[in-house]
Amino acid sequence: MKQMELAVIPGDGIGKEVVPEALRVLDVIAEIHGGLKFSSTHHPWSSEYYVEHGEMMPKDGLSQLTQSDAVFLGAVGDPALVADHISLGGLLLKIRREFEQVINIRPAKQLKGIVSPLANPRDFDIMIVRENSEGEYSSIGGSVHSGEDEIVIQNAVFTKKGVSRVIQYAFELAQQRSGRVTSATKSNGIVHSMPFWDEVFKEVSTNYKNVQTNSEHIDALSAFFITKPQTMDVVVASNLFGDILSDIGAAIMGSIGIAPAGNINLNGKYPSMFEPVHGSAPDIFGKGIANPIGQIWTAKMMLDHFGELEMGTLLLEAIESSMQSGIKTADIGGSSSTSEVTDEIIANLRNK
Ligand code: NAD
Ligand code: IPM
Ligand code: MN
Repeated sequence: MKQMELAVIPGDGIGKEVVPEALRVLDVIAEIHGGLKFSSTHHPWSSEYYVEHGEMMPKDGLSQLTQSDAVFLGAVGDPALVADHISLGGLLLKIRREFEQVINIRPAKQLKGIVSPLANPRDFDIMIVRENSEGEYSSIGGSVHSGEDEIVIQNAVFTKKGVSRVIQYAFELAQQRSGRVTSATKSNGIVHSMPFWDEVFKEVSTNYKNVQTNSEHIDALSAFFITKPQTMDVVVASNLFGDILSDIGAAIMGSIGIAPAGNINLNGKYPSMFEPVHGSAPDIFGKGIANPIGQIWTAKMMLDHFGELEMGTLLLEAIESSMQSGIKTADIGGSSSTSEVTDEIIANLRNK
């Protein structure tokens, strides 16, 4: 029996609604597989936890997670209780950074049964490879003056190691896919980091002669996600550019509520973390209408990560069959509840 230990952090808002749904699905996957078991340790770390304890997770929080095979997270952020930069910085971003989850992979592709808002969508299948540990998300900087002359500096950090690592990852992935890598740049306006990014991209590309490359400025690339997403395969981007592109990717799929993500640790020292692209959606929390597909597709990415590719494929097929049957949440044009969608996915899994 293969036993996978999950550290589960539902977090805030709809994270608390969609995580239990995805765990229900994983239990069924384990049952179908027969030789796979999930055990989970739940951590109530969230903005509410912060209000009670003055911190987003206990002092030994990270070490409580280290023995798990993966962290399975919902969403973090409840701006009514805690400022976002404190809640996210103290939990989600802390785990990404401390666990050296240096790569964030975020697929954007058309699922059967979900209608893209694009007028004439052509089949697209993009994998965004987002740098996940440095870049624009740096804590270096601060306020230099106060009052009327206040100046705030935010330094972006681009290391040779970090940039070449993420670009190399993108090329490796492209070799297993359609063999194309698009680099998101902005070297026409950002004069230090982005020319450096381009230089490393060019350097790494020389080792992958069989992979086609192109470089696009992030503003134009954002437009291309709308006008010709079918021309993209792997898209490699800095931390912030990748963040923005992944919401556009989610939007052209049909909803931010369906997009999954994996924060990957490459050196094997710490677990990777799986979480959907969306946030805690305070505007719909408590109504039972959150789309659980982002979290459930995220579970599929975790299965792939565990080497359970067959189960991963089965799960994605079950998601697509249930969408084709019309059981959908409101964000993608239906009127079903979160748990009705999960029930339908489970029923489809059992029928496979
Ligand atoms: P959001 O993704 O939470 O919501 C954006 C919009 O998408 C909202 O209208 C929301 O209702 C909708 N939406 C999101 N997920 C959905 C789902 N599963 N089903 C149906 N509709 C869904 O982004 P936001 O409003 O910018 O942020 C809200 C909070 O979440 C903030 O505190 C933010 O910092 C945090 N956040 C956390 C993460 C994360 O934990 N990974 C990601 C993004 C935002
Ligand atoms: C995401 C989120 C986070 C990010 C925020 C909440 C810090 O938007 O996971 O996409 O920017 O990485
Ligand atoms: Mn984001």
